[in-house]
Amino acid sequence: MISTVVLPVAGLGTRFLPATKAVPKELLPVVDKPLLQYAVEEAWRAGIRHVVLVNSRTKPTLPRHLQPADAALVADLEARGKHELLAALQSATPPGLTLTVVIQEQALGLGHAVLCARDALAAMPGGLEQTFAVMLPDDFIDAPVNERSQGCLADMVALHRDTGAWSLAVEEVPRAQTDKYGVVSLTSNPADAGARIVAMVEKPKPADAPSNLAVVGRYVLPGSIFAALADVQPGVGGEIQLTDGIVALLASHDIRAHRFAGVRYDCGSKLGYAKANIALALRDPDLAAPLAAWLQQSPITIQEAS
Ligand code: UTP
Repeated sequence: MISTVVLPVAGLGTRFLPATKAVPKELLPVVDKPLLQYAVEEAWRAGIRHVVLVNSRTKPTLPRHLQPADAALVADLEARGKHELLAALQSATPPGLTLTVVIQEQALGLGHAVLCARDALAAMPGGLEQTFAVMLPDDFIDAPVNERSQGCLADMVALHRDTGAWSLAVEEVPRAQTDKYGVVSLTSNPADAGARIVAMVEKPKPADAPSNLAVVGRYVLPGSIFAALADVQPGVGGEIQLTDGIVALLASHDIRAHRFAGVRYDCGSKLGYAKANIALALRDPDLAAPLAAWLQQSPITIQEAS
């Protein structure tokens, strides 16, 4: 059973400046819910009840979103009979969710952020033997939720339960973009769900990439990743890369590539974030029709770059 997710949220979010000057990237909303909440809801559907937030000291509002709502606001909404708004307010804190906050003092990379969660996991019942999940909230995965699947992370948790294998979520990207991702190569046909990862490279140039299968922000990892990360030297960009820690485990662990259903929006980029907002707004019962009508009227003039 996997009971814990680590959410690294201590990054600088520079690609979104000035929006992220005072508001953490992970609290930017897609329509009406922050990225952080979508990630917690996906973890919840995977049966996970313990969130370890790896935060920076400069982002104190992040844990606040997962803590109980302001009592005065709750009382006010109750008194005014605003039940829908009250439910929306309280949806950010599912009952039974345990939150642990650890601080990454310096944004030294994703691998370093995960390593910062080591003591928090060591203190839990499963200790450092436990398998746990890592999710990057700015990789927003809009996946169908139905009787067959409760989302990307739930499917990865089920894979571990059924086979004992760990996994990384992957998707095909255009060759020209491999230098933005960790890229994997597999033992066998990539379409084979049991295909094991044999190699992984961080941000390879298209010519050097072992494939066009890119890792996106969902991981189910063994506790042994912490020992591996402790040995990792700063890599690409001077950061301690999670990729390098995972590479050290590939020979001894069955780590698989999980191709997920649905669409991933890179909400760490402005284009991905804009697409996510439009896609979800076009599914919102209140917004879909007026937004579609407005888009069809094409009131937008596109200025040619001079
Ligand atoms: P990104 O690679 O998107 O980096 O991090 P960033 O700093 O947030 O954004 P830019 O590139 O400056 O615009 C992916 C995830 O890893 C976390 C981020 O908060 C984000 O959720 N992260 C990254 C950390 O927690 N610590 C780090 O040192 C780096």
